Amino acid sequence: MSEQNLRLEEMDSFFNLRAKEYDAHMKETINSFEEYYNLVAEPINYTEEPIEILDLGCGTGLEISAIFNKAPNAKITCIDLSEEMLKILQDKYTSCRKQLNIIKASYLNYSFEKNKYQYILGIMTMHHFLYQDKLELYKKIKSSLREDGKYIEGDYVVTPYHEKKWLKQREDMLNELGEDKLKLYHIDIPFSIKTQRRLFKEAGFNEFNLVFKQGEHYIYWVK
Ligand SMILES: C[S@@+](CC[C@H](N)C(=O)[O-])C[C@H]1O[C@@H](n2cnc3c(N)ncnc32)[C@H](O)[C@@H]1O
Repeated sequence: MSEQNLRLEEMDSFFNLRAKEYDAHMKETINSFEEYYNLVAEPINYTEEPIEILDLGCGTGLEISAIFNKAPNAKITCIDLSEEMLKILQDKYTSCRKQLNIIKASYLNYSFEKNKYQYILGIMTMHHFLYQDKLELYKKIKSSLREDGKYIEGDYVVTPYHEKKWLKQREDMLNELGEDKLKLYHIDIPFSIKTQRRLFKEAGFNEFNLVFKQGEHYIYWVK
């Protein structure tokens, strides 16, 4: 990950401003871009049933076509804070618009229905939050999954050394610039795989499976 820009930007406006260039930026950032966005759907068992899927921080919908390849009749609830990212997603998926339930909200305080989803995905969106916020969210995800459901995450994973470094950088940044506790800022706080696994365990997930690992780009799923 590149060094952070020392300017605090609120999460929604950060992505609103960058929405148009977002897909091109990701193609440049992830070496195996096509493979990566295909593999996020690898843990999904092929089905033509209208299963329920929740995509947290769906952005412009880079992961949606791979999901439809595995579950063509799925109903996908897509949640994102950024209106501009969601507009691009809607323009891309006009032919299957009826299968998408698009919600502009923060998944941190949105309440998910219990035991509803067969799969929940969080792709490239969870590296913005601290341990406690992630733990609360993972517990919510766990209770919203069906008994045999899976949570699939794709994200940046760093070494324990870099985890400490990013956390310290975040603290310094917020101390220096002042933080409004009510606002959600775009700050990168990627964790190590050890911390991620501990979080999942604490949230009640007992099985961890690694799907992809290339540099800092990982895909894994838990149940
Ligand atoms: C790096 S993009 C990833 C988008 C997409 N999943 C992908 O892999 O291309 C992160 C997305 O997460 C969204 N996001 C961040 N925090 C969020 C929150 N608390 N609630 C909803 N969306 C959030 C951002 O608006 C942004 O669209």
